[in-house]
Amino acid sequence: MTTDTRNIVNLDLKKDQQILNFSDFQKQSIKFDITKLQEAYKQIVQTKKFDDGGGISHFGAICLTRIPGDPESVKGHKARGVYWTKPDKSGKEVVRDISIDESAYSEFIPDYENTYFKEVFDVLSSKYKLGRVRILLKEPRSTLSWHRDPEPRLHIPIITNPGCLMVIDNVAKHMPADGSVWITNNTKYHNAFNGGEENRIHLVACVLDYKFN
Ligand SMILES: [Fe+2]
Repeated sequence: MTTDTRNIVNLDLKKDQQILNFSDFQKQSIKFDITKLQEAYKQIVQTKKFDDGGGISHFGAICLTRIPGDPESVKGHKARGVYWTKPDKSGKEVVRDISIDESAYSEFIPDYENTYFKEVFDVLSSKYKLGRVRILLKEPRSTLSWHRDPEPRLHIPIITNPGCLMVIDNVAKHMPADGSVWITNNTKYHNAFNGGEENRIHLVACVLDYKFN
């Protein structure tokens, strides 16, 4: 009796493809104090409102850095920035929003200097070349578009719930709010959703000198 090995080989290949690879979510070796992060967040939302990035639903941003002396650099479209998306059945990629000169966002906004975020910013900017540093809000039961960004992003979850996941390519991951720092490969197509009933709050920084293989 002869054995047709082609099917066996094919099955093996399929199995390989089923192994999830989390290399687009890279946990960093630094950790911050989650209680202090949550306190700092409470402190700033007492006086600051989230910017809706030029009218984006279920999204909000508070910029912690700006172009030196330029209060307009943290508002509207500049609180969101350029991305690419595939909006319809054609699968054709289109570009949205405006380009941002990330490296110009070098000034930590003086209003937040007396919060724990200043300490976090100082540590992060000693380790990475940062662009904009923002506090991002994702409202309950909402999602972003399926999109890619110009550069990787650093995430520090501040408030989250088990229904908050980031999806990169076809791999999904929950990042817990425990003071951990992650760098995610946002140059690949990705999304983030909040399937819980409370706001999701992350500190998100654009990272200009981090390479994924
Ligand atoms: Fe993104």
